[in-house]
Amino acid sequence: MTSSSAAVLQDPPRDVAAAAIAREGHRRDALLPVLHALQDRFGHVPAETIPFIAKALNLSRADVHGVVSFYHEFRTAPPGRHIVRLCLAEACQAMGAPALRAHVEQTLGVGMHETTSDGTVTLEPVYCLGNCACAPSVMIDGETHGRVTAERFDALLAEPRGRS
Ligand code: FES
Repeated sequence: MTSSSAAVLQDPPRDVAAAAIAREGHRRDALLPVLHALQDRFGHVPAETIPFIAKALNLSRADVHGVVSFYHEFRTAPPGRHIVRLCLAEACQAMGAPALRAHVEQTLGVGMHETTSDGTVTLEPVYCLGNCACAPSVMIDGETHGRVTAERFDALLAEPRGRS
């Protein structure tokens, strides 16, 4: 067992939610920080925490579900081992992002907000990576790459996928 998996076992989602609520206060406006705490810890917002959060913050379950689904940054399922974020903002759109998106989706066999069937890659849109001068831009596991062509994308992804 790795140290991180041991930490997960000792730190179940409800405990993380409770700690975040204790830190932020039992206020409705604590919802976003609490959801961020869960997403940061588990890579998604575990469904079993929603009734607990709703009760603690005096919200309905539908309120909490609504916020989770409104903000695409929140995931409702664990992500793949690698996160690919494709910039779809204006500068990248002008420099070939639509064609790159078509290639990426076809290559991975998934659409935005989906994870490959082997659990390797989650594809997400992003709206500017601050790398507009080198558009189109892609972020893979937190590292930004510019002037990404279809061929370059395949090469960039080959290495992390090979390590999986
Ligand atoms: S628009 Fe894509 S990096 Fe800014």
